[in-house]
Amino acid sequence: MATDSLTITDNRTGKTYEIPILYGTFPTYGAAIRSADLRQIKVSDDDFGLMGYDPAFMNTASCKSAITHIDGERGILRYRGYPIEQLAEQSNYLEVAYLLIHGELPSKAQHDEWVHNITHHTMVHENLKKFTDGFHYDAHPMGMMVSTLAALSTFYPASKRVTEADNRKLEIYRLIGKAITLGAMTYRHTKGLPYVSPDNDLSYTGNFMNMLWKMAEVKYRPNPILEKALDVLFILHADHEQNCSTNAMRSVGSSQSDPYCAAAGGTAALYGPLHGGANEQVLRMLRTIGSKDKIPQFIQDVKDRKALLMGFGHRVYKNYDPRARIIKRLAEQVFEVTGKNPLLEMALELERIALEDEFFVKRKLYPNVDFYSGIIYEAMGFPTDYFTVLFMIPRMSGWLAQWQEMITDTEQKIARPRQVYTGVAIRDFEPIEKRNKK
Ligand code: CMC
Repeated sequence: MATDSLTITDNRTGKTYEIPILYGTFPTYGAAIRSADLRQIKVSDDDFGLMGYDPAFMNTASCKSAITHIDGERGILRYRGYPIEQLAEQSNYLEVAYLLIHGELPSKAQHDEWVHNITHHTMVHENLKKFTDGFHYDAHPMGMMVSTLAALSTFYPASKRVTEADNRKLEIYRLIGKAITLGAMTYRHTKGLPYVSPDNDLSYTGNFMNMLWKMAEVKYRPNPILEKALDVLFILHADHEQNCSTNAMRSVGSSQSDPYCAAAGGTAALYGPLHGGANEQVLRMLRTIGSKDKIPQFIQDVKDRKALLMGFGHRVYKNYDPRARIIKRLAEQVFEVTGKNPLLEMALELERIALEDEFFVKRKLYPNVDFYSGIIYEAMGFPTDYFTVLFMIPRMSGWLAQWQEMITDTEQKIARPRQVYTGVAIRDFEPIEKRNKK
């Protein structure tokens, strides 16, 4: 009998089955059985066979992936094997995007070509602006992003040829390039300001800042500290393996829908307050608490299940989120330019109290990426409801890396979960007059 296997005895039948175990890079990086191997476990020939029941994918691997590794117990995050701390310190967002998508860091020539191609795909068709124009002035920016991303698909009908590598390459340039342009357009629309065209002389984040904040000056010059801070934030948000929005991107993409519509699906999933929308909720929570002396009462409300401590807890991290640690340090650099956000003191105190409280300690609830990011975004001048767009723009590269991996994975097919049916087995239809109902 192979040692890398599982022996299962079905007590209904007394039969025994041997099921192989498959591993990730190391056994500690993930060990799994194929759920399809359970199907042979039957009580009779016409039995469908055993399935795994796993609401919310609490313990189900939906794919094999070589992109991002998280060790939640130890608070480790690596893209393609590189620690997030090294990438945040030494790389830049577009280089990280290249790494996620291609699997290796680029040479100088590859880097320059990549940056050139993305920079030259930042423009959007004039007609697209009419979509943004159509939104009400107070439309939520994420709603606008979902819609304009999906609208982009109509401008590029060839994008549905997802199995063609050259086509995918072009759509990847376009989606990463245009993410900042769409993001900036939603911002300008909300403010009633004219849209700004991209400036190809600037870096990716510098260009984004230009499209957000250029007024009447001839040439916009981004503040280098804020430009760098935004770039680091983009690196930290670029990928996070099989989270809710990445799962949505993969799931929509698995039907061979084009990547614009798949990215719109990912963006819709990111919007929710339990996912990328949490950064917005953290600021609202801090404002609702109001002052430091009200924190103990708020913590009590959380423990009494009257509120959630937004920006705390994670499905995978049962330790300090390494991204939160980097963001906390980054905040100091940003505040030197912008002045300190008074909400920082509140957040620090909330963190201190929560990390000493048994409720949070027992459940291993630590600050996640969203706990401190909103405080920086607010200091930089972004409105609260815009924060999730700043998560979505860099996550585009991760979504695309995961989408491409899924499309080229010969084991993947259209995503189609099973269910355990719990409804009525069968009954005869009753005409409406015979239904004995009030
Ligand atoms: N505040 C209070 N209690 C919490 C929190 C929180 N933020 N998070 C988890 N818990 C409790 C939860 O009630 C449960 O307690 P019990 O076992 O007594 O019922 C326990 O901790 C385990 O939590 P869970 O809900 O089973 O964990 P999950 O993996 O299903 O949810 C989460 C993960 C991130 C949705 C959740 O922690 C949460 O709602 N956090 C607040 C929202 C947030 O900050 N989201 C951003 C996540 S990080 C960025 C991203 O990926 O988008």
